Amino acid sequence: MKKTLALALAVVMSLGLMAGCGPKEPANPSPQPGGSTTPPSSASQSKGGDASSIPEAPAGGGTIGVCIYKFDDAFMTTYRNALQEILEGKGYKVTVVDGNNDQAKQNEQINTFITQGVDALIINPCMTSAADQIIKTVKEANVPTVLINREPTADQMSAYDKLVYVGCDAAQSGTFQGELILETANKGDINGDGKVSYIMIQGDPENIDAKLRTEYSVKALTDAGIQVEELDLQRGDWDRNRGQEIAQNDLAKFGDQIEVVFCNNDDMAIGALQAIQAAGRKVNEDIYLVGVDALDAALNEVMNGNMTGTVLNDAVGQATEAVNQMELLLSGTTYGAGEQSVYVPYVKVTPDNAKDFVG
Ligand code: GAL
Repeated sequence: MKKTLALALAVVMSLGLMAGCGPKEPANPSPQPGGSTTPPSSASQSKGGDASSIPEAPAGGGTIGVCIYKFDDAFMTTYRNALQEILEGKGYKVTVVDGNNDQAKQNEQINTFITQGVDALIINPCMTSAADQIIKTVKEANVPTVLINREPTADQMSAYDKLVYVGCDAAQSGTFQGELILETANKGDINGDGKVSYIMIQGDPENIDAKLRTEYSVKALTDAGIQVEELDLQRGDWDRNRGQEIAQNDLAKFGDQIEVVFCNNDDMAIGALQAIQAAGRKVNEDIYLVGVDALDAALNEVMNGNMTGTVLNDAVGQATEAVNQMELLLSGTTYGAGEQSVYVPYVKVTPDNAKDFVG
């Protein structure tokens, strides 16, 4: 089962990160003067509370508001369903709202939750640039808040000590995509002209995941001494139809020159695959295709040989960690500057391990 495996993996790996990269935090952070508890600082990339020792939820649960940037997003649908299931399973009363990718609307939703007196908020911001405003609002209302999926800067988060970010190290997913290409028989250079010619189908470029996946996928190739040629870079806003349109246009324009199609996520890769097949091309023979997320549809295509690979973006692991962090905040834990990002590891997915992640 994907869920069980991903969860176990996330817990094991995040514990591994914490144990390996810095001082282990106490099972229950000691109370500090003033009634708050502060985990010790750590130089690791995974910071914050210890996922192995979650305090009890407030008796009888509590009321939690969850803001999702938009429901019409394949990966965030899996993520929000996992969040809801975990929270309800723990006895919390949960309301999940759709921001429709409209920051003004989401700001109103946050204000409404605050007026209703929620005990905690879990927020997937519509726009990274709205982080300051969101943090100011939840701080003034004194509501413990977990931000997910769009990482603000450490500096922005340091404005509020009852705030933590749970997500992944976006650069790692890009590196894994590049490695998937390096692991092919010809390292991506299908036509043997000494360079890898690619198109990049990007998510929403305002999003750090899109920026870093774009950068680090290519960097993995250049770091390995491979010459690259970018034929096109277009924003596909994480959307399957956009992925299909962009790939279709590029295939018509550049034809056999395209050796690699990098997609910042799987939904766009599934769209690109439709265009690749319509153009009579064959993945892993005359073109390579990689995505990120490990959606079930993409895992099937990896197993069928229609995608070169993908990267597990662990929705269940992140949802679990978001709830863990929310409970730490509810039990009085506070966070110092530089300790407010908790990362769940990505996992590289190839035909060899893809079946392990199917839900
Ligand atoms: C990314 C994910 C994308 C999309 C995006 C939304 O982490 O890979 O598929 O869901 O988040 O911000």
